[in-house]
Amino acid sequence: MVATHAGKPGGRRRLVVGNWKMNGTHEANNALLSALKGADLSASDVVVCPPTPYLCAVADLLAGSPVRWGAQDCSHHAPGAYTGEVAAAMLAELGCTFVIVGHSERRAMHAESDALVAEKAEKALDHGLVPIVCVGETLAEREAGATGSVVERQLAAVLDRLGDRISGCVVAYEPVWAIGTGKTASPDEAQAVHALLRSTLRDRSSSGEAVRILYGGSVKPENAAELFAQPDIDGGLIGGASLKASDFIAICRAAA
Ligand code: PGA
Repeated sequence: MVATHAGKPGGRRRLVVGNWKMNGTHEANNALLSALKGADLSASDVVVCPPTPYLCAVADLLAGSPVRWGAQDCSHHAPGAYTGEVAAAMLAELGCTFVIVGHSERRAMHAESDALVAEKAEKALDHGLVPIVCVGETLAEREAGATGSVVERQLAAVLDRLGDRISGCVVAYEPVWAIGTGKTASPDEAQAVHALLRSTLRDRSSSGEAVRILYGGSVKPENAAELFAQPDIDGGLIGGASLKASDFIAICRAAA
């Protein structure tokens, strides 16, 4: 279980997660992880999520380091005849602590529904993993004034399925229009959505205050500190900038 301290209401310890997406080679991973291991990142929880084929090697490389590792997705099925899928039980066996579920790229490119994402989160919890449940609106939804209703619907599907087990999850707010585009939600825009998510978590679960809510979408060393200073932003889910050691280390330090 990840330690908590009294830095934020609910004892929420800052968390920074690197989502490598479909990037990496053994050589690049070695270099990146050596740099992370050589930096003092102990002031917050730090996690890397490499592509699944690298998880074994990453587990070996990170042995003895406080940096944890996780996966970018898991199946909602138990092991069986599901070609190409990866079971949560297998990720747990590889020493994963976290697994991202419902990333917008999977919702959009693999037609993952809110209900499916909730099932994946449940499977992850069943195997002792912390699901990082991603929510976020598209540009069209934002322009239509639907940001609140979209993220509330996405979160409600998970709350309906998990109830108080939500305390074992992390939520990540990632506005789709900010992912990989260089456009970041302003700290105020992001905080407004985080506050909404926080109030739903609080209303629906006695442990809602303790659930960490990460912001993701073009987080960089230049904007990280201001985003993480917001009262309901407990860290970040970092894509592009997690592939460059100096940027990722700077972002982790901004969370400390
Ligand atoms: P980005 O991606 O930091 O490259 O915008 C974030 C994510 O998709 O998790």
